[in-house]
This record gives sequence, C-alpha cells and structure tokens, in this order.
Amino acid sequence: MSDPRPTPVPDSLERDRVPRHVAIVMDGNGRWAQRRGLARTEGHGAGEVALVDVTYGALSVGVSALTVYAFSTENWRRPIDEVRYLMNFNKSLLERRQNELHEQGVRITFSGRRSWRVPKGVMKRMDEASELTKHNTTMTLNIAFNYGGRAEIVDAVQQLVRDQVPVNKIDEKTIRSRLYHPELPDPDLVIRTSGEFRISNFLLWEMAYSELIFTEVLWPDFRREDLFEAIEEYQRRERRFGGVDT
Ligand code: IPE
Ligand code: IPE
Ligand code: MG
Repeated sequence: MSDPRPTPVPDSLERDRVPRHVAIVMDGNGRWAQRRGLARTEGHGAGEVALVDVTYGALSVGVSALTVYAFSTENWRRPIDEVRYLMNFNKSLLERRQNELHEQGVRITFSGRRSWRVPKGVMKRMDEASELTKHNTTMTLNIAFNYGGRAEIVDAVQQLVRDQVPVNKIDEKTIRSRLYHPELPDPDLVIRTSGEFRISNFLLWEMAYSELIFTEVLWPDFRREDLFEAIEEYQRRERRFGGVDT
C-alpha cells in the first residue's frame, strides 16, 4: 500500500537539517476517548491512524529513526482489561501494518524488556516483524514496548556484569553498547503529546541532549503536519551540548 494521504512538506522546513532520530511519547489516548464519551481503549485504537500518518511523514522528510513509546514498564499498573487490550492491540497492529511498512522500506525494531510479562503470542509477532524487515534501510521504526528507561539501564548493567567487564573499563561507551539499540543515534528531538510536561521513564540515557517539544495535541489527533511543525521548531533551536556558541 502506498501513502494514503500524500502531503507536501512545507518549504520552510529545511530538508538538510532534519533530525536523524525523532522519539515520541504518544500520550492522550484515554482523554481523547473520554472527551467523546467513548471507552479509553477506543482512544488507543484511534492512535493507529496517527502512528501510520506520522510514519509516512517521517519517511517523507528523511528521518532515519522514529522511536515511539507504546507501552511502558509502569503501564502494567493499569486496569487488567486495558492492559489486555493494549497487548492485543499492539499485536494486531503489527499484523495489519507490517507488510505495508515493509514495502516502504521500514525496519521495525523494539526496545523494551523481552519476555518479562509480555504474552508469548505478542512476542512472537514482534519477532516476526523484526525478522521480516531486518534488512530494510529507509527508516527504522523502533517501538518502545514494555519499555522503561531505568529498566534499560538496569539491563545494561546486568549485561556488563555478565560480560565480566573490569571496573576500569566501565565507561559511557561500554554502557551504551549494552542498551537495547546502540546502533541508533541518540534522539535529536523528543515530542510528547497531550500537554503533559514529563518524561515518564522514556529514553533516560539517550535523551541527555535531545531537544524537547511538548504539544497540547492529543495523540489520536496528531498528524504529520504536527510532526513537520515540531521539526521546524527544532530547527529554530540552538544546540550547544554544554559548549559555547562560537
Ligand atoms: C497513551 O495514552 C497510550 C499509552 C500509555 C499506552 P494514555 O492511555 O496514557 O492516555 P491518557 O494520558 O490517559 O489520556
Ligand atoms: C507514557 O504515558 C507511556 C506511553 C505513552 C506508552 P503515560 O500516560 O503512561 O505516562 P504518565 O502516567 O502520564 O506519566
Ligand atoms: Mg497518558
């Protein structure tokens, strides 16, 4: 399937300064549904259109990696019915979309705790999507699923110990290489929807120097135009990485 809503990229977006890696906290699904008198889960369902549209938008401007926060290690605290819905929804979303994403040259990867609590059928579908798309190079769609920034660091430290890395060899490089996707550049731009001004345990290590953009738009209403606007805002920022502007 091709782009269902081909949309021109605004001229004001500088094509040679597009963030390489954009990460998004897809938040506000529950409120979107509640405002319409619907069940919270309907909001998650409506978020699929946003995800697909934003993926096409990211492809059209040449973003090389898009990480989306789909389920956090803290989301297990939600009512069992919602958790069950989210597990099945993410599985069926892959079933519905993996071929289309594959045709677009998207490599699908996952960041998060494998096996811990995630049903086997969901894991299997995740493995199939990664396997199918592993040689694609146009863009990486990295789905943070059963993901926690602290859990990722804990998992990296456990791996360091398993690898018997001597104390004097422990540095940022050896830690970083044990994160879930060390091959991805750190996110240049992190977007959070729904008007919440917090990180909620997303990419704690990787977003040390990311530009952060918060928008009131609820995730199911977010479209590629909102992504383009965020990228333009990013392009107006001055990144210093602790140095001084010369
Ligand atoms: C984000 O939407 C999706 C997930 C956390 C899985 P929410 O479900 O958190 O929606 P709000 O924040 O309650 O509106
Ligand atoms: C963050 O949103 C997690 C995802 C979007 C998957 P939450 O809705 O879970 O975050 P809090 O609870 O508002 O911090
Ligand atoms: Mg939320």
